[in-house]
Amino acid sequence: MVLSTGYNKTRTAVFISGTGSNLKSLIKFSKTNKSPITIEIVISNNSKAKGLDYTKKYNIKKKVLDFKNKNLTENNLLIILKTNNIEMICLAGFMKILSKNFIKKFKGKILNIHPSLLPKYKGLNTHKRALNNKEKYSGCTVHFVNDRLDSGKIIMQKKVKISKKETEASLAKKILFQEHKLYPKAIIKVFNL
Ligand code: GRF
Repeated sequence: MVLSTGYNKTRTAVFISGTGSNLKSLIKFSKTNKSPITIEIVISNNSKAKGLDYTKKYNIKKKVLDFKNKNLTENNLLIILKTNNIEMICLAGFMKILSKNFIKKFKGKILNIHPSLLPKYKGLNTHKRALNNKEKYSGCTVHFVNDRLDSGKIIMQKKVKISKKETEASLAKKILFQEHKLYPKAIIKVFNL
């Protein structure tokens, strides 16, 4: 990935909607020497997102935007990102679908983490569907975002074994643990592509 604005590290925004455990792992990673990114701002569509607490703890800017009028919100968002010289976006449990137009503006610069082995189980309820289908394995995927849901080029995946006694909750926990390790690795990979 080519840096465009001459900063030492790539200025990144993380978009969240909920707990923010991936945000936390990305913040920790961003503070290490090996990180090619800094996290400059956190965007949330949900003012009650627990993950927003990390912005306070780690002294990172935050912006809450309600996506009721998507066009308007995305236009505001583009201004916010530009003002903050944001070059890359990491989606981390962000529950809104970004428009084609928005994605075009950050073409090849938006990453997402998804809790399944894509292309299997795009969308919601991935663990439930994997268990219902008696899968032996599931996992997580970091991919580039394009204008089709969970369909962009895959960067990295981590497979986990589904045990006989697996429940939705236990599988979610197992996969989330791997997500926290996979996202930083995938970011490093992107910069070496
Ligand atoms: C993760 O499982 C992620 O893959 C999915 O939403 C969940 C977000 O978890 N897109 P958290 O908010 O990072 O804890």
